[in-house]
Amino acid sequence: MLRKLLVSVILLAIVGGAVFWFISAPQPLAANALAAPHTANVKNGETMFFAGGCSSCHAKPGQDNKFNLSGGLGLKSPFGTFYVPNISSDPNDGIGKWSETDFANAMLRGVGPGGVHLYPAFPYTSYQRMTLADTRDLYAFIKTLQPEKGRVRDHDLPFPFNIRRTLGVWKLLNLDGKTFAADTSKPADWNRGAYLVNGPGHCAECHSPRDLMGGIVSGQRFAGGRNPEGEGWVPNITQARLGKWSVGEIEEVLASGLNPDGDSVGGSMAPVVRNTGQLSPDDRKAMAAYIKSLPAVEGPKPPK
Ligand code: HEC
Ligand code: HEC
Repeated sequence: MLRKLLVSVILLAIVGGAVFWFISAPQPLAANALAAPHTANVKNGETMFFAGGCSSCHAKPGQDNKFNLSGGLGLKSPFGTFYVPNISSDPNDGIGKWSETDFANAMLRGVGPGGVHLYPAFPYTSYQRMTLADTRDLYAFIKTLQPEKGRVRDHDLPFPFNIRRTLGVWKLLNLDGKTFAADTSKPADWNRGAYLVNGPGHCAECHSPRDLMGGIVSGQRFAGGRNPEGEGWVPNITQARLGKWSVGEIEEVLASGLNPDGDSVGGSMAPVVRNTGQLSPDDRKAMAAYIKSLPAVEGPKPPK
């Protein structure tokens, strides 16, 4: 009897393990996904770099050169501390040896070379919406930057979060692998704004509440919430809060950081503005118009 029970338990563990292994497998792009030739547009790659705010996390802390992508910033989270890696083109410490496909897999699938899951502290849940062409241009732009030495230390994550494979289960719930789909009933500039905000701009990553597993609460996208990277509160940017703001006023925040009261936005929005401030006025206007079109959604209430 006991023996039978033991055998069943072992069998169950094996089946369970196999199911886990199967569903948690990394899902890279198809091997021929980048087979079509692409003439890189480096200028557009630079636009994606600013829209994506890569330097907010990857620039070396404590210095002003936003193109020094040697990393090292510590990002605190409820799951532990992530140390942002070196993504400069240094062959040993950065991503200099990565192929274009490796880069596209990281951005669009959250998969690193050798088929390991990357942590969503790298906001690929938004970057997955980017077009392959924009991703390839971004790769070409990063290649033009100076290689920087310096390997970044490992993340500081307790068990079980230190097991990358478990992210496969998280991804099943939070990553759909879909590129941005335009809404053909809306004008082109609205779609441009929707693309920039939801794709490279990853605005919802900060401006939304998260569930216990750290996924965005889908019914409350943009409705604000606790700062995912530590202390403080990120405001609701749907019409529930920005109802009185004009498109021009939202645009001004993205251009200079000045809100309608004449105050500068601070906290983790300040580095966002250093990037959106580099975009073209048309792109900023498109983003602002899209934000203005977000229907009012009540979010969680900030603590008093
Ligand atoms: C909110 C912070 C944040 C932003 C913004 C961000 N990253 Fe990252 N990135 C990370 C973290 C943290 C990791 C480490 C993930 C891991 O170890 O699994 C990472 C990993 C990566 C990797 C994999 C590097 C490696 O060695 O495995 C690449 C490539 C990358 N990011 C590129 C970019 C690009 C390009 C942008 C801008 C479009 C960007 N990141 C924006 C935080 C960020
Ligand atoms: C890294 C986190 C982060 C990201 C990414 C981010 N924001 Fe913010 N945002 C904040 C925080 C925090 C504030 C509040 C700043 C303050 O109160 O000084 C803010 C404030 C704002 C405000 C002013 C709202 C108000 O009520 O005062 C607007 C508008 C805004 N963000 C739009 C955006 C847009 C558009 C994007 C995408 C391009 C974006 N944000 C990306 C963290 C973020």
